[in-house]
Amino acid sequence: SLVGLTAANSQNALIIGHRGASYVYPENTTLSAVKAWEEGADAVEIDVYPTADGKIAVLHDRTTKRTTGADYKVSETSSDVLTKLDAGKWKAPQFEGERLPLLTDILEVIPRYKKLVVEVKSGSEIVPILKSLLEDHPKRSQIIFIAFGWEVINDLKNEFPDLPCFWLSSKKADVAARWESVKSNGLDGINLHHSIIDQDLINQAHKDDLGILCWTVNKVEDARRLAHMGIDGITTDRPGYIRKHLLSD
Ligand code: G3P
Ligand code: CA
Repeated sequence: SLVGLTAANSQNALIIGHRGASYVYPENTTLSAVKAWEEGADAVEIDVYPTADGKIAVLHDRTTKRTTGADYKVSETSSDVLTKLDAGKWKAPQFEGERLPLLTDILEVIPRYKKLVVEVKSGSEIVPILKSLLEDHPKRSQIIFIAFGWEVINDLKNEFPDLPCFWLSSKKADVAARWESVKSNGLDGINLHHSIIDQDLINQAHKDDLGILCWTVNKVEDARRLAHMGIDGITTDRPGYIRKHLLSD
């Protein structure tokens, strides 16, 4: 398949755990990532930002408020403050003690043969940090980059030509407008909100040798529709559940 993995199901779609297995576990934590791989996800998606001291923090929002209760702006806060924050208990009391992780914490726990989809939420200031972190890193080849930012995804592709880079979008018009540039810039494909994907778009991507991924699909019927159309990857909060149902088709 697209990123060098054996098909996880008859339709050949990569199952990507969104922020880990975030339907049940606290999003963007080590626990959530480990659980997603354990329940059969081929890949885990996480969101990242650079910290004030040049490390890389794993969380969805620009601030820590929603997922930790403490209100820090990630770009202005050092990693030793951020990594002491509890990113588990907001989800449920039983997850108290689960810390806000750094990218290095997640890299440590990726199993062999599994992938990590890193969504870069910041601008290109993160690229040199990633470059030094991933230089000679044993898990480097397990990483896939995604980003909504057009500049940052292209900068990532230039810095990491060996790693798959997918541009994120939720707008059909933007996808049409940038299609030729996605190809000519050497990006590996597009990663779209599932509601804008139809058979023609999947066919066009494959005709042009582009991969096409989607997010965030939590209903089996939507996953089936996309898998049968030949989508290359499905991002879901419920990787075990979606995988089980696609396997039984
Ligand atoms: O996997 C892509 C998807 O995560 C993009 O949206 O807001 O969940 O980061 P968001
Ligand atoms: Ca994301």
